[in-house]
Amino acid sequence: MINVTKTYLPNIEKYKQYIDEIYANGWITNNGPLVQRLEQRLAEYLGVKNIVLVANGTVALELAYRALGLKGFVITSPFSFVATTSSLVTNGLLPIFADIDPNTLNINPENIEASITPNTSAILGVHVFGNACKVEKIAQIAQQHNLKVIYDAAHAFDVRYKDQSILNYGDISTLSFHATKLFHTIEGGALIINDDELVQKTRYLINFGIENAESIPELGTNAKMNEFEAAMGLCVLDDIEEIKQKRKVVFDTYIKDLQGLIQFQELNEQATQNYSYFPVVLKSEEQLKRVENALHKEQIFPRRYFYPSLDTLNYIEPKQEMPISRNIAKRILCLPLYPELTSEEQNTIIKIIKNTLTEFKQ
Ligand SMILES: Cc1ncc(COP(=O)(O)O)c(C=O)c1O
Repeated sequence: MINVTKTYLPNIEKYKQYIDEIYANGWITNNGPLVQRLEQRLAEYLGVKNIVLVANGTVALELAYRALGLKGFVITSPFSFVATTSSLVTNGLLPIFADIDPNTLNINPENIEASITPNTSAILGVHVFGNACKVEKIAQIAQQHNLKVIYDAAHAFDVRYKDQSILNYGDISTLSFHATKLFHTIEGGALIINDDELVQKTRYLINFGIENAESIPELGTNAKMNEFEAAMGLCVLDDIEEIKQKRKVVFDTYIKDLQGLIQFQELNEQATQNYSYFPVVLKSEEQLKRVENALHKEQIFPRRYFYPSLDTLNYIEPKQEMPISRNIAKRILCLPLYPELTSEEQNTIIKIIKNTLTEFKQ
């Protein structure tokens, strides 16, 4: 069976050494030494000033809204994983969608300005499949209207834009370190925060709002990463260059073999790639289902991702209709991409897709 992704498991002996360390010192959570070590190494590796590790990418988004004190409406992309939108709703914020660019699959800055009202407090962009947003244009709009900018960078680990980390753009960027991600800590996430004062506040927020034994200055939650997760992160980080290199081989092969036959995501030319996903846009939902069925027959499971478009969620009021996002969501498929995917397996996938596209042209 071939799935869209496969969790990378590092060398078990190396992981065991960290577990021995945890057992020896008895410190298993609450900002332990491994969490601190991973924060330091990640800050260095990614080229960011402040990174706060947390329990997952969803809570990272929620903490970003709380750290920045967002209120009212937040303009965001309807084409993302559900957590981008649901995290707003669970925090009493109303998502106002701005439709996407059908080629880059990112929020189209041209659609942002028309949606701004006096109740808007922020723009929440998503670097979809690791493809860098038009960050300068978004910054300009935000500045003009005095809005905060958050990037859901769950897919954008180690993406660089104009020679610096894409995570440095906006007030806060958030990452997901879920097991399916390029870099993972089993479950986990992070906030990259530009303002030093907000870092301190966020550290209180992830630990119930507590500053010390006598002071609880913030309304906090429990969003701490534990030592077993940090240990996994330290092991995966050791292997990250090799992981990326192997993913690049798979990514480049899809490009080479499917070029001209199927629509790819238009990539930001001034940004690097991290080879997290390989999305393809079919001509119609019918064609997508044919491809999907043909692959399923061979026990190959791509993923309809993202589907459905988030403007169709039943709990979003008022109803908003985003035709471009809806249209893309019906036709997009993420193909299997992970370091251990063999060239034979990939050739089978490519052959099935090519055959199906020849049979079903529309
Ligand atoms: C774009 C996006 N945002 C947020 C999340 C949520 O991250 P997590 O699963 O770590 O809570 C994900 C996770 O898959 C995601 O893809």
